[in-house]
Amino acid sequence: MNIASSPASVGRVDPHTVRIDLGARSYDIRIGSGLLDDAASWHVPAGGSAAVVVTNETVGPLYAERLTRVLEQRFSRVLIVALPDGEAHKDWTSLNRIFDRLLAEGCDRKTVLYALGGGVIGDMTGFAAACYMRGVPFVQIPTTLLAQVDSSVGGKTAINHPLGKNMIGAFYQPRLVVADLDVLDTLPDRELSAGLAEVIKYGPIADADFLAWIEANLDALLARDKAALAHAVKRSCEIKAWVVGQDERESGLRAILNFGHTFGHAIEAGLGYGEWLHGEAVGCGMVMASELSARLGLMPAGFVDRMRRLVERARLPVQGPAQLSAPRYLELMRIDKKAEAGAIRFVVIEGLGRAGVRTAPDELVADVIEAHTAA
Ligand code: NAD
Ligand code: GLY
Repeated sequence: MNIASSPASVGRVDPHTVRIDLGARSYDIRIGSGLLDDAASWHVPAGGSAAVVVTNETVGPLYAERLTRVLEQRFSRVLIVALPDGEAHKDWTSLNRIFDRLLAEGCDRKTVLYALGGGVIGDMTGFAAACYMRGVPFVQIPTTLLAQVDSSVGGKTAINHPLGKNMIGAFYQPRLVVADLDVLDTLPDRELSAGLAEVIKYGPIADADFLAWIEANLDALLARDKAALAHAVKRSCEIKAWVVGQDERESGLRAILNFGHTFGHAIEAGLGYGEWLHGEAVGCGMVMASELSARLGLMPAGFVDRMRRLVERARLPVQGPAQLSAPRYLELMRIDKKAEAGAIRFVVIEGLGRAGVRTAPDELVADVIEAHTAA
């Protein structure tokens, strides 16, 4: 695919803006260092009566005070809602805690919500913003690599249901995304790797050169080199912006962003949310989806090895959990959002930098799973 790219910064991190082009719902993604304290980054809808920072018990103590200081320059009232941390809390109970606070504090429809955290906080805050008084503005301040390259962008918001991940939600775009690369300094290594899974995804589905760039720069990314991270975030956002700009509500093309996710969501739901990180499940899922692409004759066998090596180098699992059988995957995958009339639809690679969506016989899918499952 030919998606415009601007040159990577070398050795320093220039602030950069990627635009999501969605007509009246267009917005900027600001990427760079020191943005959290840079009041000029916080252009938000005028006339907001209160700002509500939604965060969690881990990220709040690290960054909420700094954000509050900046927001106090713009809003007469700044409130903080700190939810329990973790995928297991991406549920109705946490969502209601946001609504309880908004209502108890008399927040009106000009209230602006700020999602300060990873994808869990971003998805829940976005859903709360979509529902509260039938919609209030919200801003994404992603603090994980995964959230900076994927979940904060594109307006998918949701909570989990015990029967399926992200099954209850809405498409609702933020007004602004502020990705401060400096907050990644405190991210645990395991979470950094989980974010790399979503970075890797953009290569095979949309940009063969970016895949090669990731392979060449993976060590720098793991070492948190700022220039490398800046390029990874910028290029990922450019690709996501291009896809979302054409298919905001996933009537077709946007499904390619779910490469590896059909297998991955089954791992997450099958083990219980939080056991494997989302990015870990996606990493392993991409190996399985690459194998499926090869078995369907779309890609050479060498592609599977290439993807497996890269995922492994990113310190992500490449084998599914032993306790999850192929029939259990199939059962779980039938309630994937891409499934139609019970038929599971998989994102496959149809050529380097080009993805499509296909069905496959259950026996073939079971073989693929078994080939990449721990004994
Ligand atoms: P997460 O939100 O659970 O964050 C990971 C962990 O890192 C948490 O413990 C969090 O408290 C901690 N953390 C966050 N920022 C930190 C920082 N700067 N320093 C120290 N610790 C920090 O997980 P995630 O990987 O960011 O997001 C995963 C979620 O995103 C899943 O629920 C997934 O379904 C969702 N997702 C959504 C989309 C979308 O398009 N909406 C896309 C991909 C993933
Ligand atoms: N993360 C998949 C999407 O935004 O569509």
